[in-house]
Formats: sequence, structure tokens, C-alpha cells
Amino acid sequence: MSQRQTVHTLKLTILCLALGCAGMRLAHGVGAQAPPAHEQTVEQVDKNIQVLKGLPASQLIPLMNFFSASLGVNCGFCHAPTTDPKTGRVHLDFASDAKEEKTTARHMIQMTMNINHTNKIDLGSMGITCYTCHRGSNNPAVVPALPLPTPERGAGGPGGQAGPSGPIGPAGQGGPGSNGGTAAPRPTPPPRPSVQQVLDKYVAAVGGRDAVAKVQTRVLKGTRASGPNNWPLEITLKAPDKFQGAANTPQGRMAMGYNGAAGWIMNPQGQHAASPEELASLKHGSEVYELLELTTAAPTMRITRPERIGDRLTNVITYTVSPDLTEKFYFDAETGLLLRRQNFIQSMLGPLPEQADFMDYHDVNGVKVPFTIVTSSPSGTTTNKFTDIKFNVPVDDTQFQAPAK
Ligand code: HEC
Ligand code: HEC
Repeated sequence: MSQRQTVHTLKLTILCLALGCAGMRLAHGVGAQAPPAHEQTVEQVDKNIQVLKGLPASQLIPLMNFFSASLGVNCGFCHAPTTDPKTGRVHLDFASDAKEEKTTARHMIQMTMNINHTNKIDLGSMGITCYTCHRGSNNPAVVPALPLPTPERGAGGPGGQAGPSGPIGPAGQGGPGSNGGTAAPRPTPPPRPSVQQVLDKYVAAVGGRDAVAKVQTRVLKGTRASGPNNWPLEITLKAPDKFQGAANTPQGRMAMGYNGAAGWIMNPQGQHAASPEELASLKHGSEVYELLELTTAAPTMRITRPERIGDRLTNVITYTVSPDLTEKFYFDAETGLLLRRQNFIQSMLGPLPEQADFMDYHDVNGVKVPFTIVTSSPSGTTTNKFTDIKFNVPVDDTQFQAPAK
């Protein structure tokens, strides 16, 4: 099984490299789309699947990353090591049931599915997940830690008295007690804008449709940092859909591209034509470079509770793309720009999250573009920082062809 993991990691590195995508998207090759109907299920591909039967094979690793992140552990917490008799190297034997934690996890998976199947209370679309209880710990707290934290001074106003729901209420909701005990009534929140108003403001903030339509080619230069790696990165895009990305790594050059008809992938080991699955992934990864992600309201878009990102207040559009996919878009309430985008792919054990944060907006030829894009998922975080973005420089179409071998 270690081979599978190696292959998987390699694929991920290669695919994600230039496009800076969140791991999950590319790991299962479908990104924000639901898994293809004909996709194999995990028990058809893996050796020892007892409770996750029916899970699309492409969702296994994202789900394993989700388990790890929910419990704050590594794969080896549940999976036993084994020594390769030939090389003497130690790796994880994912099919082995030698560790008790794996058996416990199976029971936990069944319990979580039972809760979600039999529960009659509306918990929103997301249900209960490993993280609901575990919160990043393998040993979830069952009772509140005593002594309780002393309430902040001045919080003695209405609601500041920690009633039964005080200490466990959702954090950051700004409940009645958070007014610091001042007698003044809470100001009525301003009425929320409509979906179309938020989108119109966004289109205007970016520079307007006409300015965006004038952009034919884009060349982005910068660096891609992920964990200990920090590589120079160059991306070239040409309307409507051609792209090419390359990074020079200590192992050699890695690149990928799409010429409008076919895609290719190159790494220090060689070069190959992208499979349909890889191509879907590549295209999906390049989505974070769209200049206007949304322009018109869809019937399944809703304005949900405004949220803060750092010190910025955002208008949030929650978009139910399909029963398997929900996306959230966070627009700066003041500037109108898109600050964050989240995807939640509904798996049999709850939503698998991924996120892109857009920062450092600067004007290029009358269009506002983020110079920093951070993509993250439970499998890791990648930061693309651009130092140089140019529009409408002449770009030869040969750039998008697979390089001659
Ligand atoms: C909290 C425990 C837990 C963690 C952490 C965990 N796994 Fe798993 N993993 C499981 C369980 C349980 C199964 C078996 C599921 C079943 O029987 O349906 C499994 C199955 C697998 C399989 C299928 C093996 C086979 O051949 O049947 C692979 C591959 C795998 N995990 C990889 C990983 C990787 C990679 C990580 C780290 C990113 C990881 N797992 C982290 C619990 C865990
Ligand atoms: C309803 C709450 C709840 C949910 C949901 C939940 N767990 Fe747990 N889990 C617990 C509790 C409580 C314990 C600790 C049990 C104990 O103290 O022995 C635990 C323990 C575990 C352990 C053993 C940890 C150790 O140190 O040995 C594993 C592994 C685990 N959970 C995995 C999962 C996975 C994977 C999921 C999601 C599929 C999940 N849990 C969902 C409550 C939950």
C-alpha cells in the first residue's frame, strides 16, 4: 500500500505544483464536481474496506486527511508500520488491522453514520462529523474543564451571567453577553444586501466586465511555498482556456499545460499526456486564477450570516451547486472584492472542506487581481505569492503544447 501512497503523493505534488491547488481537489481528480457516476468505489480498489463501502475511491485519501486533521494525528496513529523485506525500509501497511486505533476508528465511523442517519433534528446540511466531537484531539473532552474561566470584567450585563448555554455557546457569535455589560441595546444589524447586489458590487470592484473581457493573456511570476518547499513559479494563461504552469524544484523542472484540446504533465522522471481525470483536476486547479468567479445570481445562492475574515467584515454567498457540493464566497463588505472561497464536498462522513484565500489585490491594466493566493485543505496549505503579473503580453500558442521530449 505504500506504493499507492507514494503514487498518490507524487501525483498530488506534480499536479498541484504549478497551479497551487488545494490537495483534495487534485487528489481525487474531480475538484468541485461530484465524483463521476461510473467511478470505482473504495472497496473495489483497496484491500480491506469494511465500513466505508460505497465511498468513491477518489474520496478515500481526502477523507483520511480529514480524520487525521479532526483528531490532530498522523496516518500512523491508526495505521501500523511494516518493514519491506527487500529494502528494509519501514512504511505504513494501510490494509493491516494491527492497530487498535484503526478498529476504534471503524466503530467511530459507524457511530457517526448512525447519528446522521437516525437523527431527527435539523443540523443544517452538514450533520455531525469526527471534528464535531474531536476538535483536533484524539481524546475529546467529555465535561467542561474546571474551574471555568472567569467571566470578563464588565460582562455582568444581561446574558453575561453564564447560564447553562454560556460557556458552550458557539464561539465568536457575539451573543448578548458580549456587549461588555453596557446597558445600550445592541444596534440592529443593517439589512443584508441581495445576492445580485453583492455580485454587482464585486464585478464593479474587480474593474467591470469590459475591463476583464479585454484581458487575453496573463503571465504570473512568483513563488509557491508549501511546507518546507519554496519554489519559483511561472504561470501563463490565454483566453479562453489555455494554460501552462512550471516550477523549478531542486529535483528538476515540473510543468503542466493545456492547449485547448489536450493536457500534459512533465516532471523530472518524464512526461505524459494528462488522463481525463488529471485534466479535470488541472482545469479545476486553474480555477483560482479566474478573474471573475461569479457574475449572475443562481436560484440556489443565498446570502448567509455575515462573517469576519481577520478585521474585514464580509458578505457571504452560500451556493448549493448540487446535493454533493456547497460553495461559500466571502466578499469584503466595504471593497466588494472576493476574499475567500470554500468548497464542501459532501462525503458519506460529512463535508470535506477546501479553501482559497485571495489577498494583496493590486490593479493590473484596470483589473484588480490578488497577488497572494493561499489554498488549503486538511492535507495541507500552499501559498502562491506573485511579484509580477502582466496582462496582454504576446504569448505564442506553442507555449501550451507539451514540450518536445
Ligand atoms: C483515525 C484513524 C485513521 C487515520 C488517522 C487514518 N486512517 Fe486510513 N483508515 C482508517 C480506517 C478505519 C480504515 C478502514 C476503513 C474501512 O474498513 O472501511 C482506513 C483505510 C485506509 C486505506 C485503505 C487500506 C486498504 O487497503 O484497505 C488507506 C490507503 C488509508 N487508510 C490511508 C490513510 C492515510 C494516507 C492516512 C493519513 C493521511 C490515514 N489513512 C489516516 C483509519 C484511519
Ligand atoms: C459523538 C462524538 C464523537 C464522534 C462524532 C466521533 N468520535 Fe471518536 N471518540 C469520541 C470519544 C468520546 C472518544 C474517547 C473514548 C475514550 O475515552 O475511550 C473517541 C475516541 C476515538 C478514537 C480513539 C482514540 C485513542 O486515543 O485511542 C479514535 C481513533 C476515534 N475516536 C476516531 C474517530 C473518527 C475517525 C471519527 C469520525 C468518523 C470519530 N472518532 C467521531 C467521540 C466521538
